[in-house]
Amino acid sequence: MAKIAVIGSGYVGLVSGAVLSDFGHSVMCVDVDQKKIESLKKGVIPIYEPGLDAIVEKNMQMENLHFSTDIQSAIEDNDIIFIAVGTPPKDDGSADLQYVLSVAEDIATHMQGYKVIVDKSTVPVGTGQKVKRTVREILDKRGVDYEFDVVSNPEFLREGSAVYDFSNPERVVLGTESQRALDAMIEVYRVLYLNETPFVTTNIETAEMIKYASNAFLAMKITYINEIANLCEKVGANVQNVAKGMGMDDRIGNKFLNAGPGYGGSCFPKDTKALATIAREHDEHLTLIETTIQANERQKLRMVDKICAAMGDLSGKVIGVLGLTFKPNTDDMREAPSLVILPELVKRGAIIRAFDPEGTKEGGWRFEDIEQHMTFCDDEYCVSQEADAVVLLTEWNQFRSLDFDRLKAGMKDNYFFDLRNVYEKCMLEKHGFRYYAVGR
Ligand code: UDX
Repeated sequence: MAKIAVIGSGYVGLVSGAVLSDFGHSVMCVDVDQKKIESLKKGVIPIYEPGLDAIVEKNMQMENLHFSTDIQSAIEDNDIIFIAVGTPPKDDGSADLQYVLSVAEDIATHMQGYKVIVDKSTVPVGTGQKVKRTVREILDKRGVDYEFDVVSNPEFLREGSAVYDFSNPERVVLGTESQRALDAMIEVYRVLYLNETPFVTTNIETAEMIKYASNAFLAMKITYINEIANLCEKVGANVQNVAKGMGMDDRIGNKFLNAGPGYGGSCFPKDTKALATIAREHDEHLTLIETTIQANERQKLRMVDKICAAMGDLSGKVIGVLGLTFKPNTDDMREAPSLVILPELVKRGAIIRAFDPEGTKEGGWRFEDIEQHMTFCDDEYCVSQEADAVVLLTEWNQFRSLDFDRLKAGMKDNYFFDLRNVYEKCMLEKHGFRYYAVGR
């Protein structure tokens, strides 16, 4: 059993801490936010993530998992310290490292012996060395010479299936500079090691790069199929069948080939921008990634153009929107396509009626007065009341089996825009809808 402190109890920290405690380790999750820690101590989880509450409750009962605001004790009492604080984007697209480096300072200030310092946050290449320098400088100032190692251990969690992903990863990436740290990390992930999960052991910089290169590649793959979808619409091809045919080639793979309104979330938009910035700082241009970022922005607006092309002038038209979050099974609104698409619809004169099972109306809309043009409904059938069109924007399961007669009953007109390609044209037409999809 390892003694682990996880500093930062946000999305990554909380999931990592909870599952590591479930692996049998003793885990102390720390956060500066007193209110958050108080509610976590009562078993109240601040984010919507399926399965997380159950393992938090179980491991709190077994006393494997604890929550605290006392960073000093957490550092003194534990051998392995995970840094899982935020790295929000700065105006220039680069990642803001102030929270990561401030935790490094805390660790150096309070450590009394050997520590393994693990970077779990997604950080630019070179951060591991910055953390190392920061810790060394403070130890020097303290006049002590404790040994420590820095490890890069990027996470590949998908929101909505984060607990599963952490417990069943396709690989564990460990960037280390010493055998001692590597042995400690293999102990942390012993359960996975025994399961024969592949371990990629490498240096710190390579591990940091694996994370960015993976996320940017996936963002590029989605953008590629989105552009192919746009072309399919022009030439009369069906993008779903194109993706199926492409995906059967193992070299391409069938995942992440679903065309839609553009990728969002807390990772792809941020990581693609950060990677492009890292490249520019090193006098390199990642042209594919820079184009991906631009094409993804265009894709969101293209959805609005699609709606306008079908419906004409949107002035006074009522549009019912199903789903606001960037993907299903999360309450996360960060960089959700809805944040661009809905204000644009409103700008063009539309009135919105929206429903999302978890997404909030405080989501961060781009212009303030959008709320005057938007009603938040209590369920999926309420959005279609007096509506001219229904737009399926996020593919929550409950939108996959709609009662179309009920949906259509209160509508003024009969447009249905399926921006996630959930349904078939013939099915919707049978129920009297005019159906539009993406790339079909
Ligand atoms: C992603 C990565 O998958 C994960 O490995 C990393 O650690 C964090 O970022 P996440 O942001 O939770 O995870 O969501 P993901 O399921 O990857 O979807 C990202 C976005 O791409 C969503 O907006 C989704 O709707 C979109 N997407 C995904 C598509 O439009 N088409 C696809 O085929 C797949």
